[in-house]
Amino acid sequence: MRSDANLAGPVADPVPGPRSESPGEDVSRETPPPVDDTPFEHAARLAVQAVGRAGEVLPRPAQTRVMVVANQKGGVGKTTTTVNLAASLALHGARVLVIDLDPQGNASTALGIDHHADVPSIYDVLVEGRPLLEVVQPVPDVEGLFCAPATIDLAGAEIELVSLVARESRLQRAIQAYQQPLDYILIDCPPSLGLLTVNALVAGAEVLIPIQCEYYALEGLGQLLRNVDLVRAHLNPGLHVSTILLTMYDGRTRLASQVAEEVRSHFGNEVLRTSIPRSVRISEAPSYGQTVLTYDPGSSGALSYLEAAREIALRGAGMAYDGHASMSGAQHSTASMAEGIQ
Ligand SMILES: Nc1ncnc2c1ncn2[C@@H]1O[C@H](COP(=O)(O)OP(=O)(O)OP(=O)(O)O)[C@@H](O)[C@H]1O
Ligand SMILES: [Mg+2]
Repeated sequence: MRSDANLAGPVADPVPGPRSESPGEDVSRETPPPVDDTPFEHAARLAVQAVGRAGEVLPRPAQTRVMVVANQKGGVGKTTTTVNLAASLALHGARVLVIDLDPQGNASTALGIDHHADVPSIYDVLVEGRPLLEVVQPVPDVEGLFCAPATIDLAGAEIELVSLVARESRLQRAIQAYQQPLDYILIDCPPSLGLLTVNALVAGAEVLIPIQCEYYALEGLGQLLRNVDLVRAHLNPGLHVSTILLTMYDGRTRLASQVAEEVRSHFGNEVLRTSIPRSVRISEAPSYGQTVLTYDPGSSGALSYLEAAREIALRGAGMAYDGHASMSGAQHSTASMAEGIQ
């Protein structure tokens, strides 16, 4: 894993070749041209968008940041957040690995990664002790993005792991042995607190919790936080909740702003100022085996994930985030974390 402190050079260009406009050039008074369907043109638009949006060199972490995307509540946006944040970070020039730790394999699907039963997968790593290097695949269309896919075999792993040596730390060992230069590893967890999620919590340093702006948003979070505490106390002293991301935010409803306010009053600085809007484009992208960043780079969903990635990168480097894109409209609060959560 990388250990050299450095700043990224110019943001990597995922699509070499001519561009239709120079980064940062203001051409936005006209109606934008229709979205082209070819992957190349999508990617070209995306590159322009990403560079123009960022307009700055984002800091890369001195060491690989291993972020566990967890919430045992189902359907809150874990997978969506994992793949779109990972793509956004890669488009900002980082090298990023997504580890799909959910037997459903949704992250693998969304990244366009083959994950039928015969494909070498994270199951082989966890249960058979196969090196991570042998299962990682490059993600098509996004330079610097890689994925360790999940196959259906993983559904049995929770039980198979029970009888294995060092059952909680098998993923940690695999990551430590993976000597590739990476800036970020994002682990997509299943909606449970079983051995797969425990493996992720032991392997990572940071927990990223996506919270859906809906009724009962905080339900069950106390249990997740207690698990984080237990893993920190016994297995991984460096583990902490570093990031909370509000997802599926609908600024038109009072409910969404109330939930956002409640989350910000329970969790303080950990809550990103950027939140992710409810967006049809975000929900459509996986069925095309794409992230929203390549599916519709100019959409609000793509821009919000790019902005969240920017905020995460700046915060990780201890730099101030200027709140450039207030997609959420929600207020920032510095109340202390996790008080009173059930
Ligand atoms: N911002 C969004 N706007 C619209 N739809 C979204 C958004 N985020 C996620 N979705 C949709 O909500 C559903 C659940 O999202 P996702 O699969 O990311 O959740 P999850 O927490 O990974 O679920 P699971 O617990 O089953 O793994 C998906 O259909 C996804 O496309
Ligand atoms: Mg999921």
